Amino acid sequence: MCGIVAYVGHQDASRVLIDGLKRLEYRGYDSSGIAILGPRPYVAKAVGKVAALERKVWQEKPEGSIGIAHTRWATHGKPTEANAHPHSDCSGQIFLVHNGIIENYLQLKKNLSGEGHVFTSETDTEILAHLVESAYQGDLEAAVQKALLQVEGTYGIAVLHVSNPHQIILARRGSPIVLGIGNGESLAASDPSAIAQHTDQVVYLEDNEVARLEPGKFFISTLQNRRVDRSVTAIDVDMGSHELGEFPHFMLKEIFEQPETVENAIRGRLNHSEGVAKLGGLESVLDRLEQARHLIIVSCGTSYYAGLLGRYVFEALTDLTVEVELASEFRYRKLNLRQNTVVLAISQSGETADTLAALREAKRKGALVVGLVNVVGSSIARETHAGVYCHAGLEIGVASTKSFLSQVTILTLMALLIGRSRDLSYEEGFNLIRALEKVPDQIREILTQSDQIRKLAEKYVDARHFLYIGRKYQYPVALEGALKLKEIAYIHAEGYAAGEMKHGPIALIDPSFPTMAIVPEDSSYEKIASNIQEIRARDGRVIAVATPGNTRLSSLADDVILVPHTLDPVMPLLTVIPLQLFAYHCAVLRGCDVDKPRNLAKSVTVE
Ligand code: G6P
Repeated sequence: MCGIVAYVGHQDASRVLIDGLKRLEYRGYDSSGIAILGPRPYVAKAVGKVAALERKVWQEKPEGSIGIAHTRWATHGKPTEANAHPHSDCSGQIFLVHNGIIENYLQLKKNLSGEGHVFTSETDTEILAHLVESAYQGDLEAAVQKALLQVEGTYGIAVLHVSNPHQIILARRGSPIVLGIGNGESLAASDPSAIAQHTDQVVYLEDNEVARLEPGKFFISTLQNRRVDRSVTAIDVDMGSHELGEFPHFMLKEIFEQPETVENAIRGRLNHSEGVAKLGGLESVLDRLEQARHLIIVSCGTSYYAGLLGRYVFEALTDLTVEVELASEFRYRKLNLRQNTVVLAISQSGETADTLAALREAKRKGALVVGLVNVVGSSIARETHAGVYCHAGLEIGVASTKSFLSQVTILTLMALLIGRSRDLSYEEGFNLIRALEKVPDQIREILTQSDQIRKLAEKYVDARHFLYIGRKYQYPVALEGALKLKEIAYIHAEGYAAGEMKHGPIALIDPSFPTMAIVPEDSSYEKIASNIQEIRARDGRVIAVATPGNTRLSSLADDVILVPHTLDPVMPLLTVIPLQLFAYHCAVLRGCDVDKPRNLAKSVTVE
C-alpha cells in the first residue's frame, strides 16, 4: 500500500529517496512523487512505476539534501499526477505526503473552502496540507500538531516547509512511521526496509505522536506538545532479500526459500525430551495460556487461511474452543470475551489496519492478546501482550507464500505447547516434532517438480474458472490455493469445502471448468475421492494433489501431483507448495506482473 520515505542530511536527497521508493515498490502502488527543498523547491510526480518518476528526476537533476517521497495506492481519486503526493498548500510552501484515510475530510474541505483555500486534487490528503497552512505561524511542528487535532481517521505523514530547509515533521496515527538516525543525516519511512541501507538505528513513532527530524537528530512530542523520550533501537533487515539472485521473480524465490522458512520457524523451538515446543515470546503469558478455554484467531487474507488451518490443529491437539474471524468483521460482532479468552492476531506485515483494530478492540475488552507476526517491531508486534515472530525474512512478492508456511508451522508449535500442558501425550508430541523436522526436506522434494507443474499449467492455463476443493486440514489449503490463482494469474478460482460442492458449485462443472482436488491419503480421503467421482461424472477435469501409492486416484484424476506422506496436521505444509507453483506458472504464462499484481498491496493499512 502507500509508502513514505523522507531524508535530511548531506547526501543528494533525490538519490536516497528514489532508492527508498524502489525498496517500497513491493508493497503495491499506482503512482509516485517526490519533493525536494534546494535552491528552488522541486516537485515531480508520475503515474505507474517508480521508474517513470526516476526518469523525470534524473533528467531534471534537482539539487537539495532534504526531501520527501511517496508511492500512492489510490483510495480517494484515480491514480493521476494531480492526485499523486506530495500535496501542497495555496502558497506552494508546504509539501506533504500521507498514508491512511482522513475520515472527516469533506467537512474539513468545506471549512477550508470557506476560508478561501483552493484545491487541485480529489484526495483527502490535500486537505492536510491546507490545514497545516491555516495553522502555520512560523513553527511547522506546532502547525502540524494543531492541524492534526482536527483530523479524524488514520495517517502517517511527512511534511516540509520552504522556510525550514533543515527540518521534516512526521506524525502517526494508525499508519506506521519509523525514524532512522544516522551520522549527520536522518531518514524516515513507513517501512524500515526503505531506510535500512543507510542506518540500523531506528525509532518507532507511536500513535498520536509527532517527530521533528533534523540531520542526525530527532525530537518526539505528543499532539498536545508534551515531550516524549524514546530511545533508539537497532534493527536487522536482511538487505539480501532485495536481490533476485538466480530467480526471475521474488515470488518464485520465496517459494523456493520455504525449506529454510520452516527450519527458521522451528529452530531452537523444539524440546524432544519432553515432546513439547518452546516459544520464548509466550513465556510471560504461559500461565494464562494454560488456563485459557477459548481462542479467537483474527487475521486477513492469507493469514486468515493460516488461522483457519490453525483451528483444526488447535482442536486436534488441545481442548480449546477455537473460533477464527476475519479481522474486518470482528468488530461488528457482539463479543462475549471472558477472562479465559485469548485472542491471537496473525499478520505477516504486522501493520494490517483491520487486524490492528481487532486486537485493540479485544484488548479494550480485557482479553489476553497474543501475536504471530513476521515484521519485527511492527505495530501489531508492539501492541500485543506477547507473541511469536515468524522469522520468515522479508517477503517481497505481494502474494504471500513463505509467510503462510511459517505461520502454519508456528501455529502447530503453539498448539503443541498448549496441548502438552493438557491431555496431549508425550508420544503424540514427539511424533509431531519428528514430522515437522522432516518437512524442509520433503518440501525440497516437491520443489523438484516445478517444471512438471509448469507443464500442467500450460495444459490448464486457458481455463477462465477453477474450483479448488479439500476437506478438513485441506479445506483451508484449497482456499489458499484458489486465492493464489486469483491474486497473481487473475483466473477466477473458488476455494470450497469438498462436502459443500454438491450444494452449489457442482452446477458449474463442465469440461471448461477444471477442479484442483487436494486429496492426500488422510482421515477424509474416502469422502473426497467420492467428490472427485461426482466431478468426473459431469465431464469435469481434475488435477489431484495426492500422496504416493494411491493407484485408485491415478485412474480417477486427469493429472496427479504427488507430495510425500506425513502426519495429517502437518500435511498442509506440503500440499500448499504445488498450488503456489501452479499459480505462479499460470501467472507467468499469462504474462502477469507476478510480484506486483494489479490493484493489490502487500500491506493494507486502511480499513
Ligand atoms: C494483503 C496481502 C496479502 C495478505 C493480507 C494480510 O491483502 O496482499 O498477501 O495475506 O494483506 O496481510 P498481513 O500482513 O496482515 O498478513
